[in-house]
Amino acid sequence: MPYYRSVGEIPRKRHTQFRRPDGGLYAEELMGQEGFSSDSSLLYHRYAPTAISSAEVHEPPVTSQSPNLPLKPRHLRTHKLDAGPGDAVLGRRPLLANGDVRIGYVVADRPSPLYRDAVGDECLYVEEGAATIETTFGALRVEAGDYVIIPTSVVHRIVPDGQVRMLTIEATGHIGPPKRYLSVRGQFLEHSPYCERDVRGPDEPLQAEGTDVEVYVKHRAGWTRHVYAHHPFDVVGWDGCLYPWAFSIHDFEPITGRVHQPPPVHQTFEGPNFVVCSFVPRKVDYHPLAIPVPYNHHNVDSDEMMFYTGGNYEARRGSGIEQGSISLHPSGFTHGPQPGAVERAIGAEAFDELAVMVDTFRPLDLCDAALSVEDTGYAWTWNR
Ligand SMILES: [Fe+2]
Repeated sequence: MPYYRSVGEIPRKRHTQFRRPDGGLYAEELMGQEGFSSDSSLLYHRYAPTAISSAEVHEPPVTSQSPNLPLKPRHLRTHKLDAGPGDAVLGRRPLLANGDVRIGYVVADRPSPLYRDAVGDECLYVEEGAATIETTFGALRVEAGDYVIIPTSVVHRIVPDGQVRMLTIEATGHIGPPKRYLSVRGQFLEHSPYCERDVRGPDEPLQAEGTDVEVYVKHRAGWTRHVYAHHPFDVVGWDGCLYPWAFSIHDFEPITGRVHQPPPVHQTFEGPNFVVCSFVPRKVDYHPLAIPVPYNHHNVDSDEMMFYTGGNYEARRGSGIEQGSISLHPSGFTHGPQPGAVERAIGAEAFDELAVMVDTFRPLDLCDAALSVEDTGYAWTWNR
């Protein structure tokens, strides 16, 4: 998405001779989306980015997923997931999934292997801790509250500082800002809740050295482990509009009104058949008779996942929802504030809540890790 960026050394003209200090040619790699018809970047490698010396199937741990049967709203406590910390790629616990998106959670305390998701873009949300995300394009520092968008097939690894907790959203296509916030040429418009100044990209190439380097590839047929002859982070420069980028939820400027604003005002990203929204601390509805919490609602075409990541989410008070909780309110079920929340909220001037929502247009299945941390009484908490 974002906008044109140029990092490190690049030649004056694309596709012309660009030589290393030893006289050899740098190797170009054009990484682009939608078959040369959308955003791309042109990278210059010291070594051929095509040189692999082995390819082996990788078998990730078997996880099962099952439909939301019987149809119920669900509450998952991610902080109760039993596995110890792992790395931020192979240690992910898948929770909710459909054919368009997989949502998982990970606690990581060690560097991940090099990894490329060839199925789609990834959106990582940092709940707690900090990390460096090293990529072919350079490094990004991230901390609690950051979203990171890693475009399809960008080789990267995640190096935590100590321990980091992340929500992971893996798409089967591209994730970007909502189109209604962009000009026809891609500039953020004035009514967008964030803009170019809030977006961070890599500032300099990494230029790592190494031979026989393993890269885990998640692709449409499964997982494969490639060994590259040279370290993929051998780029001396690149330019273009395709690169990993970060954006802090704390830079999302909430849109508020006299009466309750619907969730689309919180929309932050769109992906294929899903959206991501940010609920941030804000002043609330200021009509003299306003009811600041949401009305009961039923988006008949969506499953709604909400990850509670800070403050107190007013509408869910008394339901058992806590930090790190995920609620799933599926289509086919009308949801709304918990009993008493409407009366309690009247007269409130501000909400201190932080939550990330993913609405999907196809139903989300429950993975076995989700069922292992389900609060099975949640469905009945409105019946009090
Ligand atoms: Fe909702």
